[in-house]
Amino acid sequence: MKQVGKSPIKILIVDDMAETRENLKKLLSFHGGFAVAGEAENGKEAVALARRLKPDIVLMDINMPVMGGIEATRTISVEMAMTTAVVIISVQGEHEYLKEAMAAGARGYLVKPFSADELVGTIRRTHEMEIQRRARLMPNIPLQTKLGRIISVFSAKGGVGKTVIAVNLAAELGKDRDLKVTLVDLDLQFGDVAIMLDTTPVRTIADIAREEEVDSETVEACLATHSTGIRVLTSPLRPEQAEIVTGRHVEAILGLLAESYDFVIVDLPQRLDDISLAGLDIADTIFLIASTELSAIRDAKICLEIMESLGYESSKIKLALSKPSKEHGLDTNEIEKSLNRKVDIRIPNEERVVHPSVNKGTPFVISNPTAKVSLAIKDLVKIVNPHSEGDVRAKKASKSGKSSSGKKTAGMFAWLFSMFVNG
Ligand SMILES: Nc1ncnc2c1ncn2[C@@H]1O[C@H](COP(=O)(O)OP(=O)(O)OP(=O)(O)O)[C@@H](O)[C@H]1O
Ligand SMILES: [Mg+2]
Repeated sequence: MKQVGKSPIKILIVDDMAETRENLKKLLSFHGGFAVAGEAENGKEAVALARRLKPDIVLMDINMPVMGGIEATRTISVEMAMTTAVVIISVQGEHEYLKEAMAAGARGYLVKPFSADELVGTIRRTHEMEIQRRARLMPNIPLQTKLGRIISVFSAKGGVGKTVIAVNLAAELGKDRDLKVTLVDLDLQFGDVAIMLDTTPVRTIADIAREEEVDSETVEACLATHSTGIRVLTSPLRPEQAEIVTGRHVEAILGLLAESYDFVIVDLPQRLDDISLAGLDIADTIFLIASTELSAIRDAKICLEIMESLGYESSKIKLALSKPSKEHGLDTNEIEKSLNRKVDIRIPNEERVVHPSVNKGTPFVISNPTAKVSLAIKDLVKIVNPHSEGDVRAKKASKSGKSSSGKKTAGMFAWLFSMFVNG
């Protein structure tokens, strides 16, 4: 990570007016310690340039054609949280926009007209604060080699069945005594995994985050063992403990678990934030869960676009429709047309089976293995573990194959690590 004062602060200037961009360059050139790395005239260009240049600071106008400054700020703040901070430049009377921009992740703002001193002061202050913030988010975490497969379950909407799917997928995989399976609850504030498995956690992910270093012994000591044989890392006991867990912890914990477990199933929160992005980035397979309502499909479309912009291969993402409803929902054809991709699996609505299972804390794949919804979970298992049906030789081949996929992801993990460390 860069240190204040050692190298010039790298700046990207974004404004649709060429004259404004020139003025900003001139103001900055009067002071030492800044390097204008690039210029963009709209938000879209800014996002593309920021991805390439990784500037320390983006000076961002709000009202621009093609893509405005608020949307661009949101994308840069999510994607480049560990390298780049946005300072918004607005004219007086744009206070509402300003609030939106700060909510989108902007770290500083300047209201026009401003002096050279105000400009320089704001940039320096923002940059220094960012360096301190990132240092706090980066505990000393060693680099790992990943071997097992990480399967993350995500949705843009709440209540669509993520936790039900994650719990039952883990329990179904765990039926194979040759497989080591762990389930991680990253719904850090109000996670439901413990209750759906009728488990009372003693230690949780918060106990790992409290340690100075994350190592495999600490992670292992915080896992509970469920009667099905799967190991479980539960979310913190209280919502306020959630904030000590960072994306870096998540990355390290999942990487370590994948070293010793064949499958790491991750139940993600519905938000896109540091935590869920860490869980999505490191996953080998993402189950994107959507219900069949119009708003859920619109949100799924946005998620697919974001995942594409994050560079995820399309084969990494599997789309599952949960609780499809004939009377109230869109049909599969309409959904596939609107999302321009196929639906990989449908998880039937079977309240009679699912509700008692949730209330008793027994996965339905155990209590009711022949129910339609249990058969759908078996289909999910076939997607993540194609050799799950009895062929011992194929299973062995799959086990040896796992190290090659592990290598690929270990490479990605190393890349993510180096990106964070080198800024
Ligand atoms: N296939 C299904 N058939 C019938 N009911 C279901 C099914 N899947 C989930 N449910 C019910 O839907 C509710 C929400 O499920 P779940 O908690 O798994 O959703 P979630 O996406 O994890 O929600 P949250 O966003 O709150 O974490 C539960 O009451 C559950 O019983
Ligand atoms: Mg849930």
